[in-house]
Parts: sequence; structure tokens; C-alpha cells
Amino acid sequence: MTSNRNLVFSGMQPTNTLHLGNYLGALKNWVKMQAQMDCIYCVVDMHAITDDAGYRRPEDLTRATREVTAAYIAAGVDPQRTILFNQSQVPEHAELAWIFNCVARLGWLDRMTQFKEKSGKHKERSSVGLYTYPVLMAADILAYKATHVPVGEDQKQHLELARDIAQKFNNDYESPEFFPLPEPVITGPATRVMSLRDGTKKMSKSDESDFSRINMTDDADTIAQKIRKARTDSEPLPSEKKGLEGRQEAENLINIYAALADEGVDAVIAQFAGQQFSNFKNALADLAVTKLRPINDKMRRLLADQAEIDRILKSGSERARAIAAPIVAEVRRKVGFVG
Ligand code: TYM
Repeated sequence: MTSNRNLVFSGMQPTNTLHLGNYLGALKNWVKMQAQMDCIYCVVDMHAITDDAGYRRPEDLTRATREVTAAYIAAGVDPQRTILFNQSQVPEHAELAWIFNCVARLGWLDRMTQFKEKSGKHKERSSVGLYTYPVLMAADILAYKATHVPVGEDQKQHLELARDIAQKFNNDYESPEFFPLPEPVITGPATRVMSLRDGTKKMSKSDESDFSRINMTDDADTIAQKIRKARTDSEPLPSEKKGLEGRQEAENLINIYAALADEGVDAVIAQFAGQQFSNFKNALADLAVTKLRPINDKMRRLLADQAEIDRILKSGSERARAIAAPIVAEVRRKVGFVG
């Protein structure tokens, strides 16, 4: 890794398996960014225990951590070139998060919409970790002084918080420019992939209906079946983008097609203008299977050798720690901790 240059950091939670939203909103862009910048990609297992589903069964967390690692590699993350590791193996994340807990203000966290959504009506029963989740996320990024963070649209507010924390730390400890203000990288036609059952809700790991999402582990038949059953309206495809207004489900499927095909939305609309959704869904199912099957096959091959996955994570953690440790040591000195 070279210093004084752009550095990419991003992560995903190992809660259940990854879905098409994670792939098109983030992972696909991560793979592309490897060609342009140094990248660090993390499996954020400490974030995964902030909600109940993550910590109830230790074996599920272990399995999901390996599965997400396999998905990164199968999608094209190169563990030789890029640092790939799991968060809990680098203790600097937790250490910096504590310091940032003392920098961030309650008022800032109170505004976080994801906490409000996830805690629902029973805020008092949520873990404290779920509340400070975005602070740990800021620590993940800033422990490496990362400058670019490729994510889906839902993470924008968390990235703004990370910038506020970096700025306040720099001011409080009279260290202008110590931490860079990390830039969100939110690109492509599918920065917010919606549920296949309800175009007003985002595709999510926690939706109780498995038909709402396409999982990276779904086989070809399941993918095709889910797409054919996806909700749409009765109108044919429009001939212009304007014709998608108020048609969230239709727009979602077109965005998914464009992202999978690496084409612009306008080109996809031009190709299918005036056709019935049944035709379009067949084409989308074929495309999704063609693009996802090789990833799926590679994931299965990788998962057959768990020791190799664990070895990759360990070696990535050592490389990550070599970058984070001196940065966090400098933070300790700035704060005034002895030793
Ligand atoms: P997670 O695991 O919830 O999501 C992982 C990534 O997938 C994106 N994403 C989506 N993109 C488009 N459409 C969707 N329906 C969709 N659902 C999820 C998310 O935006 C994200 O990029 N908090 C982060 C994990 C994290 C992190 C970090 C990210 C922890 N520390 C530091 C960047 C930097 C998250 O949302 O994970």
C-alpha cells in the first residue's frame, strides 16, 4: 500500500447471505475500484452482533462471515491485491470507536434514520451497539484514513456522520487535516435496489419474505422464479424514462437490468419499449442467471475449503492492522493517553 493517496474502504455485515442489492449497490463497484485505487474490504462481524439476528447463534455468525468473504472473492475482489479481512480481528476498530463515542454528540446519533427503522417501536429494547453502530462505522473508515467509501444510497447519512466525527476530532485535538473527510461513492443505476414484492421498500436481508430479494446463494431456478413473480403493473414498458414516474416496481426491474448489463437505463428502455413485462422478465431472468451463476459457482467452490477462507481473513487482518495500528497510536497520543 502506498501512502498519501486515495484509499478505498468499505464493508458488509455478515447477517444472513448477501442479496442483489448488496451486489449491485456496492460489491460490483468495489470490484471496479480495485483497478483504480488501493482498497480495503471488510466483513463487519462486530456490526452484525448489534441486532438480535446476528448474535443469537454463534455458528450462524461464523458461517455468514465465511460466506460473505466467499461472495466478495467470487464477485471479483482479489485478496492478493486488496486487503480483505474481518473487523473483529483488528482491535483498533473497537478502540477508535470508543474514542469516537466521546467525540460524536447524542443529537447527531438521534437523527440517524436507520436506527429509527431498525429499532422500530421498541427503542428501549434495542442494543446500545445498534445505536452507536454508525460510530463504529466511522472508526472502520478512519482507522485507515480512507478517503473513498463505495456504498449504496442507504449509507449516505452514516457517511455524513463519519465526516462530522472526523472534522470534530480534527478541531478538538487541534490537528487540522489529521483525518480526511471520507467521500461516499454512490454510483450506477442500482444504488437503491427495491424489494421485488413492494417497490416502496428497499431490498433487505431482514425482509421476512424470501421472494422480496435475490440472494447471492440462490440457484438458477430460484432466481428465475423470483423474477417472474416480481410485482409489476399491467402497463407495457414505456418508451421514455419519464414513463416510469410513479411506477416504482417497473423502475426497479429496469434499474436492475441496466446494472447487471452494465448499460444505461435509457438504452434498456429503448431496447424493450412497448413490450409486455412478461417478455422483459424472461430477458431479465436470463441476464440475472448468466451474471450470477458464475459467482454462485465460485462461492460454492470457495466454501468447500473453509481453512483457506480463514487463512485469507487472517492474512488480510495482519495487513490491515499494520496500517491501522500506527494511526490509532497517533490518536492515543493526541488524546493524551499514557503508554
Ligand atoms: P450492509 O451489510 O447493510 O450493506 C452492505 C452494502 O450494501 C448496500 N445495500 C444496498 N444497495 C442498494 N440497494 C439495496 N437494497 C441495498 N441494501 C444494502 C449498502 O448500502 C452497503 O453499501 N453499515 C454498512 C456496513 C459498514 C460499512 C462500514 C460500510 C460497516 N462499516 C464502513 C462502509 C464503510 C452496511 O450497510 O452494511
